[in-house]
Amino acid sequence: MNSMHETTEFDLQSRLPVARTPEQVRKKVAEARAKGHIIGFVPTMGALHAGHLSLIEHAKRRDAFVVVSIYVNPTQFAPHEDLSSYPRPFADDHRKCADAGVDLVFAPTDETMYPPGDETRVQPGALATGLCGPHRPGHFEGVCTVVARLFNLVAPDFACFGQKDAQQALIIKRMVTDLQYPIEIVVCPTLREPDGLALSSRNAYLSADERTRALCLYRALSAGRESLLTGNAAERAATVMHETIAQPAPPDAIDYLVAVDATNLQPVTEASRRVLLAGAIRIGKTRLIDNLLVDLPPQRT
Ligand code: PAF
Repeated sequence: MNSMHETTEFDLQSRLPVARTPEQVRKKVAEARAKGHIIGFVPTMGALHAGHLSLIEHAKRRDAFVVVSIYVNPTQFAPHEDLSSYPRPFADDHRKCADAGVDLVFAPTDETMYPPGDETRVQPGALATGLCGPHRPGHFEGVCTVVARLFNLVAPDFACFGQKDAQQALIIKRMVTDLQYPIEIVVCPTLREPDGLALSSRNAYLSADERTRALCLYRALSAGRESLLTGNAAERAATVMHETIAQPAPPDAIDYLVAVDATNLQPVTEASRRVLLAGAIRIGKTRLIDNLLVDLPPQRT
């Protein structure tokens, strides 16, 4: 009963409570609001890394009562994807949140997020049709559905998302505008390893050899950025990215590697000011995404 582990878990729970139900999360958030706090929200699927912690830090810097949700959302995984093997190190995540100064963890069950008889979904529009959309059928509908439900339960003033999931961030911004949520969406920069690899919970799947090979995506995106900044058109930058990723060892598959208008994910036009260079590749069984934003030099227009 009184093992070191149980004592530690008890201490952790008293340092950082975990809400499991809608009633619990609403009560804690209402108490924080009554004390005059604004509410900052960081939705996650757990397996927290420095990228997530930077979102939390951002929320803390705004002096908010910070709620982090930890929920591996089944509806955003296609049947052939890694839902069952997705890492779920909850105790570790809880501790990281406590150390980062999070005020409340919300870790709902599937029954809470998808109650019996559930059948309503939030369907995104054109922003979901390109890039990851065709490769992950139903993914963004699952993301919008769960984020809308989390927003309803947590009712934050602002919510932080990572630029690494650029398409997700744009879709969520669109959803918040369209569904008229009074929530500010804050998009925080991608965190990278010293060699450029974007931090991702899925990096944990990579073997040492795959980890080395995974760098090809960042190299390709960087070459595309260089190409744009030296005045080349988006089509040329896309070609450069494809040439770069093929050498010396291409990934096992390229889902896409494109240069699109950063505001609407459509082809770059004369009117485009900002380009999103984005790619999704497969290294072994692992699917990795990354992107870079490039402001076009004024002389191009
Ligand atoms: O970015 C993620 O981790 C997930 O898509 C999110 C926003 C937590 C929804 O499940």
